[in-house]
Amino acid sequence: MKKKVLALTLTAAMMLSMAACSSGGNTSDASQDNGGTEAAEVANKDKPLVWFNRQPSNSSTGELDMTALNFNDNTYYVGFDANQGAELQGTMILDYVKANIDTIDRNGDGIIGYVLAIGDIGHNDSIARTRGVRAALGTAVEKDGAIVSDPVGSNADGSATAVKDGSLEVNGKTYIVRELASQEMKNSAGATWDAATAGNAIGTWASSFGDQIDIVASNNDGMGMSMFNAWSKANKVPTFGYDANADAVAAIAEGYGGTISQHADVQAYLTLRVLRNALDGVDIDTGIGTEDDAGNVLSDDVYYYDEAARSYYALNVAVTADNYTEFTDSTKVYEPVSNQLDASAHPEKSVWLNIYNAADNFLSATYQPLLQNYDDLLNLKVEYIGGDGQTEANITNRLSNPSAYDAFAINMVKTDNAASYTALLSQ
Ligand code: BGC
Ligand code: CA
Repeated sequence: MKKKVLALTLTAAMMLSMAACSSGGNTSDASQDNGGTEAAEVANKDKPLVWFNRQPSNSSTGELDMTALNFNDNTYYVGFDANQGAELQGTMILDYVKANIDTIDRNGDGIIGYVLAIGDIGHNDSIARTRGVRAALGTAVEKDGAIVSDPVGSNADGSATAVKDGSLEVNGKTYIVRELASQEMKNSAGATWDAATAGNAIGTWASSFGDQIDIVASNNDGMGMSMFNAWSKANKVPTFGYDANADAVAAIAEGYGGTISQHADVQAYLTLRVLRNALDGVDIDTGIGTEDDAGNVLSDDVYYYDEAARSYYALNVAVTADNYTEFTDSTKVYEPVSNQLDASAHPEKSVWLNIYNAADNFLSATYQPLLQNYDDLLNLKVEYIGGDGQTEANITNRLSNPSAYDAFAINMVKTDNAASYTALLSQ
């Protein structure tokens, strides 16, 4: 009896040390799969993880959170090129002003006045857009080598320090360009990019500035459309947003000035594609820069990969009266990556994915429907969790059983809070 126990213990000890050996070596997912009859259960901390829409970063300095971006070998971020898009948005507005110079100055006082709705003062994408508008319109001031992106509140007389009065010469006449007002659109519960708050703000701004407002600019379409519907449409004041949501694109026919497509059709694909590739144990570029077995491939005019930042960035396109008819369906999959993967070579896997704020127009009306189209094509069974946009806990509470999923796609409330998710995967 004693002998038997000893023998068993020895066998157990040998098995343990073998397991330790193989997990210490450079076993890839693929070789683990081939190793035994049953694939070894992957620890949550080793499962593929993609951050999307909000890049892990410091909300005060903007510095990338490399710990979160390097959580494991299969961690990535998917977003878009914020600076390229911001520059496009600024240029789009400036071009509009120049093309409509004879009518733009509504009260004829020589000042072109604009108001600006800011999404989230601690979000790099929002900051970039504020800077892009100010840079193009000549109202930017710099501090420590960067354009100040703080809201001005109210700036009726041009004395605010976060901006300056710009000067614009068109057809031999010089105009002053003034940011009359700007504020972060955050509601009392803490949700940022808040469309309803923007709809209220335009009412306040219109009653104090009236026909001094010649342009309405917004960090996104959700807030832009809320202001357009509440005021600028009726007052024929061009309003510019960002995201190319279907309702905003349609509104261009009714006087909405324009928007920027951040190529959500490419981002939604990439969000799920990096997970698919990691789960298949294939090169991460498969179906991205390199054509896959179904014919899916992206060309480099729609995205790029920054290896050091582990980040995929889609490129932006301006959507104006000139081309908006090509953008009316914002939930249509991008044709070059619309081919169904074969289910025997790419068997179904399950993904936990959250949308930080189910009330956010862009995420709920554009991004999530796109994800839902691609999840079928990529054979991924995705559980969509909709957050309230206010607290991280509202979402992390619903990640109570990470072991039930093969991979994770995370959209944080605040860009600094990556650790509240990775902690749950590390337990
Ligand atoms: C979009 C916004 C959205 C935000 C959420 C941005 O990329 O342009 O519309 O509210 O993401 O994080
Ligand atoms: Ca004026």
